[in-house]
Amino acid sequence: MSSIQTRVIAIANPKGGCGKTTTTINLGAFLADMNKKVLLIDLDPQCNASIGLGIKPHLLNFSVYDLFNNPESQANEIICPTNLLNLEVVPAKTSLADIESKLRTQKGAGFILKRKLEPLLLKYDYILLDCNPSLGVLTLNALVCSSGVIIPVQTQFYALRGLTQLLNLINIVREKANLGLSMVKILTTMYDVRTNLSHYIFEEIQKNFKNRLLNTIIPVSTKLAEAPSSGLPINKYAPGSKGAIAYEQLAKEVISFEEK
Ligand SMILES: Nc1ncnc2c1ncn2[C@@H]1O[C@H](COP(=O)(O)OP(=O)(O)OP(=O)(O)O)[C@@H](O)[C@H]1O
Ligand SMILES: [Mg+2]
Repeated sequence: MSSIQTRVIAIANPKGGCGKTTTTINLGAFLADMNKKVLLIDLDPQCNASIGLGIKPHLLNFSVYDLFNNPESQANEIICPTNLLNLEVVPAKTSLADIESKLRTQKGAGFILKRKLEPLLLKYDYILLDCNPSLGVLTLNALVCSSGVIIPVQTQFYALRGLTQLLNLINIVREKANLGLSMVKILTTMYDVRTNLSHYIFEEIQKNFKNRLLNTIIPVSTKLAEAPSSGLPINKYAPGSKGAIAYEQLAKEVISFEEK
């Protein structure tokens, strides 16, 4: 059964390849496993979240592009099922790449997704938004309708680049458009216990963002990297693997915020 309040969580970081999509898919999969009704929205023209959930974007008639491009379009006409009970997806196609330039000059363009999600709000416990690696209009749309943001940060050099701009944008959106944007958390990803670099970067993250840091640490894991090629999340592709255990812990930690 769905809860009264739907949590809309953006998974965002303008830094590419830091684990946004991996986190969105696997957090969504474990929340669904824990009996939460989950909708994942792919906001990236790379379509990695859609593909990782077994969708073939080139075969789709409708995608998230239509939500942004056609004022009449409804999210529930675009939602696709996945191989997992309780997990559905609004998929993307590569055509989404055109939307940034189309919307750049359109008044109110940052509020489109918020409007389109309103009719869905009581149907899901969680709506997870997989953002693309930029701070463009799609990411702005995500922040405007979210109650929380999870920022995956890879334990590699340059990991903290772009973070200040993202945190600034979150503050501006909160002040001007979305007072409900209250949970802003950093997730350590691709942590490699064997390397000094991982320890060093983790300490830097702790030093700079202590009160925002999630307890869960996502380790580097070949199984997590392999899973998308099967179209399955990690709880189906490699249950019990260290990546699966970590994302299960993340789902529990995210659920624990419901009580706060
Ligand atoms: N914990 C992990 N261990 C090993 N590989 C990982 C892990 N997390 C993600 N990867 C791999 O690293 C790459 C980047 O991850 P992912 O696609 O999730 O990042 P992203 O932030 O969504 O990237 P983009 O900015 O391009 O959207 C992918 O090939 C993914 O399979
Ligand atoms: Mg991605």
